[in-house]
Amino acid sequence: MEETEVKQKKYYITTPIYYPSGKLHIGHSYTTVAADTMARYKRLQGYDVMFLTGTDEHGQKIERIAQKEGVTPKEYVDKIVAGIQDLWQLMKITNDKFIRTTDEEHTKAVQKIFKKLYDKGDIYKSEYEGWYCTPCESFWTETQLKEGKCPDCGREVELTCEESYFFRLSKYQDRLMQYLEEHPDFIQPVSRKNEMINNFIKPGLEDLCVSRTSFKWGIPVSFDQKHVVYVWIDALSNYISALGYLSDNDEKFGRYWPADVHLVGKEIVRFHTIIWPAMLMALGLPLPKQVYGHGWLILEGGKMSKSKGNVVDPVILIEKYGLDAIRYFLLREVPFGSDGVFSNEALIQRINSDLANDLGNLVSRTIAMIQKYFGGELPETMEKNAQDEELIKLVTSMPAKVEQLLDQLQFSTALKEIWKAVSRTNKYIDETTPWILAKDVDQKPRLAQVLYNLSESIRIISILIQPFMPETPEKIWKQMGVPESSRSWSSTKEWGGMTKAPVQPGEVIFPRLDLDKELKELEKTHVPDKTKQLPEIRPQIGIDDFAKLDLRVAQVIACERVEKSEKLLKLQLDIGLETRQVVSGIAKFYTPEELVGKKVILIANLKPAKLMGIESQGMILAATSKDEDKLVLASVDADIPVGSQIS
Ligand code: ME8
Ligand code: MG
Repeated sequence: MEETEVKQKKYYITTPIYYPSGKLHIGHSYTTVAADTMARYKRLQGYDVMFLTGTDEHGQKIERIAQKEGVTPKEYVDKIVAGIQDLWQLMKITNDKFIRTTDEEHTKAVQKIFKKLYDKGDIYKSEYEGWYCTPCESFWTETQLKEGKCPDCGREVELTCEESYFFRLSKYQDRLMQYLEEHPDFIQPVSRKNEMINNFIKPGLEDLCVSRTSFKWGIPVSFDQKHVVYVWIDALSNYISALGYLSDNDEKFGRYWPADVHLVGKEIVRFHTIIWPAMLMALGLPLPKQVYGHGWLILEGGKMSKSKGNVVDPVILIEKYGLDAIRYFLLREVPFGSDGVFSNEALIQRINSDLANDLGNLVSRTIAMIQKYFGGELPETMEKNAQDEELIKLVTSMPAKVEQLLDQLQFSTALKEIWKAVSRTNKYIDETTPWILAKDVDQKPRLAQVLYNLSESIRIISILIQPFMPETPEKIWKQMGVPESSRSWSSTKEWGGMTKAPVQPGEVIFPRLDLDKELKELEKTHVPDKTKQLPEIRPQIGIDDFAKLDLRVAQVIACERVEKSEKLLKLQLDIGLETRQVVSGIAKFYTPEELVGKKVILIANLKPAKLMGIESQGMILAATSKDEDKLVLASVDADIPVGSQIS
């Protein structure tokens, strides 16, 4: 058969699209590195691969962060997304497309999808009833409340109604159930499938609120501009909008859909195996072949998360230890479906044992022997004896096992399988004792065989680690002189690809690390987000500079919110001599009611300023935590008359 007659098989893999709500941490890199490994592997096997990643840029949370930073949401996400793209470049992620939900093609697709579902009757307008927390501007369901209060800030909530569009999720309950039962491989690992059926589908699916009127940063509903599309219809649609679904050019959609696998973290398996399939059923589209829910990387103390501040920055680790060491560690340390603890100690130990000791030493010892015994040129010989058979059998049977494991996304076990070959090859050196053979001229042909077998084994190993490690194979090929014609994926199945080749000793591929020293250094870098460090102490001032400030004890006698502002409160302050009006950006932290009666500290001689058109005659003092999620007003330690001066 002619090569061109075989239709090239396709492989479509996706990561979740990430929230650009701050810098990404090693937990995010985990999903992306896993997906990249699959994409590289499938390309090496000859598949036509489509690997998609991107960012999920809409929503109230982003709108708020941007507001806090005093920029538009688009300006804010542009900056963060550029950083995310840089990180993927640094990690040599080979995504074929990067989708942003603010892309015009995505926006248009989402509007069309929404309209299509509406026309079909699967989206309808109704009212969303929920408990509303005004300061947080968030709706909560009854069960989400904590002791009847907002679970985020602990303040009072009100029962409120908001006009919303709903997706008829309930209608798809039976079809979903049937689908999951008939496609046992759809949700992986299988344990997650049972969780979905028992915890979510069986108790009954409720229709899903899919639009909001309470914030603006989202895709407008094309036929009702007051609404923006809410979260999941926007985010999940990326997997098909990226392929041109419902656009003038949907050739990629025809080629790649349905996806072969959506890789997602376990907390979003539910959205990908219930809402997304129901949406696709409603659109009359085939479902993805598989949704794989991987576990979390945990730090001692819980899931790594930006809000907890216990994140590990992948950039620092890559700078210190190299990309391949980090990628290796991520995929080797934890079985892909389970949670795993990330620790610096485990990282350094893996680098030392698996990379520096096992693989690195194997390569450098082999090269050193070829130099010493054969003047730097590997002799070609296909002779072998009984002592070689076990090695050859183990190494040549390994590629098929690795493929089988990778096809099930078992990265850790696949690497273990490759490292069995690494260990076996190291053991082969001990068994054949080349340094003893070298002492006897009659053993020269045998010594040549031994070195050939070592080199050949390294060749096969170096090709198989390619999906995981984008940098090391090339280094090994160059140092060992692996011929270009013997570097293909399929060449690993055949023993004997090495030819007579000059070795070129180079840098040590994985230097050994001093555990204690590295741990100490890493400890220092553990401050996660540079923006969240305490601000530096300002330049010194003299006592006369300070004496210029007139600080007074003041009492709040009235207070109200500033209309159309989330941040500002307008306060009337009694300062003994007169009443002052002050506008203060504390609305997220205090309600007007709780402020009335409080004694605060006012900078009484600050030049008046206008905030949203309202005059502010001075400023009240407050302390802000480094990540700005806490603010408390400064006050006096005990009661003292208003107007008292502070110095
Ligand atoms: O959920 N360990 O975005 P996201 C492992 N925008 N994986 C982790 C992790 C950790 N410590 N922390 C995060 C979203 N992740 C949505 C997705 S898809 C249509 C919309 C993983 O930025 C997490 O499990 O919060 C998830 O799969 C991914 O990072 C994105 O998280
Ligand atoms: Mg999340």
